[in-house]
Amino acid sequence: MTTTQSADAAYDPFDDFNRSAGIGIVENPYPLFAAVRPHTPVLKEDVRAMAGLDADVFGPTQEAAADEHPDVFTVFSYDGVHRVLSDGNTFSSAGYAEVMGEVMGHTILEMDEPEHHHYRGLVQQAFSRKAMERWELDAIGPIVDEHLDTILERNDGRADLLPELTFPFPVAVIARLLGLPRADLPQFHRWAVELISVGFDWERGLNASRSLGEYLGSILEQRRAAPDDDLMSRLAVAELDGHRLTDDEIFAFLRLLLPAGAETTYRSSSNLLYGLLTHPAQLDALRADRSLMPRAIEEGLRWEPPLLTILRTATRDTEVDGVPVPVGSMLIVNMGSANHDEKYWDHPDDFDIVRKPRQHLAFAFGPHMCLGMHLARMETRVALDRIFDRLPDLRLDPDAEAPHITGMTFRAPTALPVRYG
Ligand code: HEM
Repeated sequence: MTTTQSADAAYDPFDDFNRSAGIGIVENPYPLFAAVRPHTPVLKEDVRAMAGLDADVFGPTQEAAADEHPDVFTVFSYDGVHRVLSDGNTFSSAGYAEVMGEVMGHTILEMDEPEHHHYRGLVQQAFSRKAMERWELDAIGPIVDEHLDTILERNDGRADLLPELTFPFPVAVIARLLGLPRADLPQFHRWAVELISVGFDWERGLNASRSLGEYLGSILEQRRAAPDDDLMSRLAVAELDGHRLTDDEIFAFLRLLLPAGAETTYRSSSNLLYGLLTHPAQLDALRADRSLMPRAIEEGLRWEPPLLTILRTATRDTEVDGVPVPVGSMLIVNMGSANHDEKYWDHPDDFDIVRKPRQHLAFAFGPHMCLGMHLARMETRVALDRIFDRLPDLRLDPDAEAPHITGMTFRAPTALPVRYG
């Protein structure tokens, strides 16, 4: 084996990705948001400080560069976040093209109206209620069961539900929905994680994107020739106003599904399990009365959304929550902070599955509101139901190191060590 091969064998894309997302670093950003939000619902950031320019030492060239940089605002309040996300004309999503365009292609995430509306009309045909019902029976239930079988076969009354269930199952679900051969799953998962790690390993991200494109290309060709009932075939035949999706449009969508669908769902189901395991009375209440499940799922998403921030760019001079925002400004839209806004929730930092329900913003809002939110909720519901049915008397392992939810952009627990039976 060559040096490169052995170095590559030691490389763990999952570790690298977690490091880049601040997992294990930022433990709890919510007190910081709460300290800023009430008096500064929209904060104009110090762009020079963000760019790492030291006020005392930067020279004229750097100063000019910093001055040319567009203003950056972080939106902390619920009202502000809601306003920005509701108005896709004033707050464009096109900025994502710079960050992700190269690896993903031209995705729905970076489209503005009217292009976005048309494309969304096409892809959402593949996410019909009927398709979801079939996915629950044919894919999600069996996949969760396979992971639980492996845990139960050990017969030792303990597990770490994160590496053994919540991390691997959503990507396995996407692979199954796409109709990919089972044996390809480990490689597919690896490319998926490498692709998202592009922010800190450009070459690796691009290579993974290329490999995924070639791999999916050969499967799409087969589906175009002989359509089946899977997601890829549905995308291939979707039609709106006489238009069909091109191969490149389908690849861009499929590449996006990995970070959009797998990384978020793994984190949201882990965060909810963490909330329940660290609040045993609520865990018992939910186990005893499964009709509380929808409320528990929404509270998990409100309390610890897997993705804290998303981005927008102002297309005209405007204002957000009373703060003037010039054209061209970049907005960091903090959905995590919005979900903890004391204006709308009492004791917002408390996890409380029976709190009065109201619209949280974990799935965003407006034109780009998550296309997969019903699927994500269903995956979490099925996983929790199966866990409760098959791992009786589930509780946090008292002998294991206490886990914490960490991360700044993406948030998830470090582990979910449990005992059962
Ligand atoms: C709990 C899990 C999930 C969360 C918290 C979540 C969150 C989000 C958010 C915040 C956005 C808006 C991004 C933006 O506009 O900048 C989004 C968009 C999107 N999500 Fe999800 N997502 C989840 C699961 C899924 C799943 C399971 C799928 C599909 C398999 C999916 C597919 C998408 C797609 C395609 C978009 C783009 C929609 C558009 O631009 O019109 N998501 N999601």
